[in-house]
Amino acid sequence: MRRTYAVGMDIRVYDDRTGLADAAAQLIVDRAAAGTFSLGLAGGSTPRATYERLAEMRADLSGATLWLGDERWVDPDHRDSNARMARESLGTAHGASFVVPDWSLGEPETAAAAYELALDRALEGRPPGLVLLGMGDDGHTASLFPGTRALEVTDRNYVANWVDEKEAWRLTATVPFLASADQVVFLVAGESKAAMVERVIERAEPFPSRVVSDAARDVIWMLDTAAASRLGRPL
Ligand code: 6PG
Repeated sequence: MRRTYAVGMDIRVYDDRTGLADAAAQLIVDRAAAGTFSLGLAGGSTPRATYERLAEMRADLSGATLWLGDERWVDPDHRDSNARMARESLGTAHGASFVVPDWSLGEPETAAAAYELALDRALEGRPPGLVLLGMGDDGHTASLFPGTRALEVTDRNYVANWVDEKEAWRLTATVPFLASADQVVFLVAGESKAAMVERVIERAEPFPSRVVSDAARDVIWMLDTAAASRLGRPL
């Protein structure tokens, strides 16, 4: 594992996706050992290996409240659902409670508002604990896509967000909500992310993932060598 410190950033680089998943799973297990906590789950494909590793480790997350940093506006059994991906990869032995949006409410804005309330109750009014996030090759994180309205929201924790390029609604945590977390951990892997990793980390271009990273109270970027391949040498 090679540590590269861009100014003020903790960047951890692992040989491959497996090494990244092992380290991320261990970070979660260590956090769980410290007592009850909440864990915001990243969606997409990258974190699946971490969740599967947690299942392999038979991690005891019984003190944890799991929630979703974002969700696609689909039935929770749809193949694109982040809730489905998390359930399939984490399995059921973890013992954590899992709070997911209620798709049956029928309207994205209604579901986002209801989820926001459900999260406030589940987190007992406390800020999020540990939040996992991914990054798209366009620099989005959660479902905060460049140029979308949710990026400008400052008075909500969770909103519906229309994403033109996807021609779809998404539900997403907002910048202030993610920034209020005890710790944010970005999990980014693959050659396809290398150019955006360089733009976001070394050039500090204000894509949504950098905006969240800069606003976070404590942030770690965990990358594999492919995603980090265009970063400068360790400082
Ligand atoms: C989602 C996400 C999203 C994801 C990135 C990276 O719902 O898709 O939460 O922010 O983390 O798009 O996705 P991959 O890991 O599939 O590259």
